[in-house]
Amino acid sequence: MAVQRTFVMIKPDGVKRGLIGEIISRFEKRGLKIIALKMVKMSRETAERLYEEHKGKNFFEDLINYVTSGPVVCMVIEGDEVVQVVRRMIGNTDPKEAPPGTIRGDYALSKSENVIHASDSLEKAQREMSIFFDKLDL
Ligand code: TYD
Ligand code: MG
Repeated sequence: MAVQRTFVMIKPDGVKRGLIGEIISRFEKRGLKIIALKMVKMSRETAERLYEEHKGKNFFEDLINYVTSGPVVCMVIEGDEVVQVVRRMIGNTDPKEAPPGTIRGDYALSKSENVIHASDSLEKAQREMSIFFDKLDL
C-alpha cells in the first residue's frame, strides 16, 4: 500500500454547471480523503505556471483563457495509489474517448473544456499542489 497525494482542480465549466458537489462526492465515495480545498480565480501567471509543460503548443492560449475565465475549485486528495486512481476516475483528456462512469465520460464532450484537471504523476502532483497550497494547509 502506497499512500499518495494528488492535486485536482474543477475547471470553470464544472463550477459554472454546478458540478462541485457531484465531483467531490465521487472522490469521497471512492474512499479517498479531501485534505485541502479552496475556490480561486486564477491569474494568467498562475495558470501559465500550472500548465507550463504545454507552453508553445497550439492550444496553450485557449487553455489559459479558459481556465482563467471563472473560479476553479482546487483540492489535494489523499489515498492509496491516488495519482493513478484519480486519473482513471476522471477519464481521457478527450471526453469523447472517456468511458461512461468516468467524470469526463459523464459530464463533458469537449477536449478543450473537459471539467476537471488531475496530476498525472507523483512529481507533478507535488509541483501543482505547491502552486495553490502552503505546506501549512496540508
Ligand atoms: P493534457 O495535460 O494533455 O491533458 P489532461 O488534462 O488530461 O492531463 O492537457 C491539458 C489540457 O489542455 C487539457 O485538459 C485540455 C487542453 N488540451 C486541449 O485543449 N487540446 C489538446 O489537444 C490537448 C492535448 C489538451
Ligand atoms: Mg495533464
